[in-house]
Amino acid sequence: MYPWERVTKTDSTLRMIHECVKRGHDVAMVTPDRLSIHDSVTMANCEVFTKGQKVSSSIESFRQNCEKSFKFLPMREFDTVFMRANPPLDPFVLNFLDSIKDDVFVMNAVQGLREANNKIYTAAYYDPENEFIPKTYVSKDVEYLQRIIEESDQEQMIMKPLDGYGGKGVIIIEKSASKNIKSLLDYYVNSSSKGAKSQYVILQEYIEGAEKGDVRVFMLHGEPIGAVRRVPSVGEVRSNISVGGSTVKHKLSKEEIKMCRKIGEKLVRDGLFFAGLDIIGNKLVEVNVLSPGAMYAYNKLNKAKLQVKIIDYLEKRVAERKEASSK
Ligand SMILES: Nc1ncnc2c1ncn2[C@@H]1O[C@H](COP(=O)(O)OP(=O)(O)O)[C@@H](O)[C@H]1O
Ligand SMILES: [Mg+2]
Repeated sequence: MYPWERVTKTDSTLRMIHECVKRGHDVAMVTPDRLSIHDSVTMANCEVFTKGQKVSSSIESFRQNCEKSFKFLPMREFDTVFMRANPPLDPFVLNFLDSIKDDVFVMNAVQGLREANNKIYTAAYYDPENEFIPKTYVSKDVEYLQRIIEESDQEQMIMKPLDGYGGKGVIIIEKSASKNIKSLLDYYVNSSSKGAKSQYVILQEYIEGAEKGDVRVFMLHGEPIGAVRRVPSVGEVRSNISVGGSTVKHKLSKEEIKMCRKIGEKLVRDGLFFAGLDIIGNKLVEVNVLSPGAMYAYNKLNKAKLQVKIIDYLEKRVAERKEASSK
């Protein structure tokens, strides 16, 4: 996961850690840069929560006062590894996880993380009638992208970088601003901060109704287990909480549940057991598989503890594995 210093009181991972420590599990966290191979054994220089410590029922008090210490431990000896890093993920980290995946229940599965590591996962979801995937184009060919905008029958389209998160770089492109389009495309494709390499960008139809916000759906083993609506602040296109979006209660409609289950079948096939979908209307905008957030908002609005369901699920999967391997 990301470093503990970045964990704030509204953090989703914190809620899951708190739940695990409260249940008396051995819990440790490690940042990707603290993984090593020690004589062919994948090791984590991790921070372990002290066993038997008094666990405050207040999550914020737990965050401030929990006891932990560094230990150098073999990853293989854990029952489960829950990946909670922010995208984009370093592919080397996935190789470290590959080395333990036969012995440890890794959530989400390494192969699934590899496939869904950026927004191509949703863009390439085959849906020829655009029943639930908006019209989406991915390329680094500026002329091609320019043509897509020119030929679009919509006045506006959404453009975003392939591997952004938290709304970073998501903008509306308006046909009427035609003089700017080539320059913008050029900038997105060719002016990367990551060295000289050109970058893929996504163009996507602007989904009607997006002004009212999008819905973040929490998916556990292919089933929607809760949702919140995120409403963008005034004058903003992005509804991400990190750029000022506010959250309101949302009850999934029958159609939304049907769509989520349909997407969920693929998620489970790909080992993406815990994911956050971003949906607008009946369209899927993004699948977040690395570290979906907004759990704090859901819990607060619904007086719920989503983390309980997730940790119950992890315990169940681990128990099933143990039973299967003892046969
Ligand atoms: N096709 C779209 N139509 C309308 N709004 C969109 C569209 N795509 C993204 N947005 C808005 O921008 C936000 C961020 O886009 P998203 O694809 O989820 O990227 P990120 O990984 O940065 O969250 C969405 O939550 C939504 O509010
Ligand atoms: Mg998103």
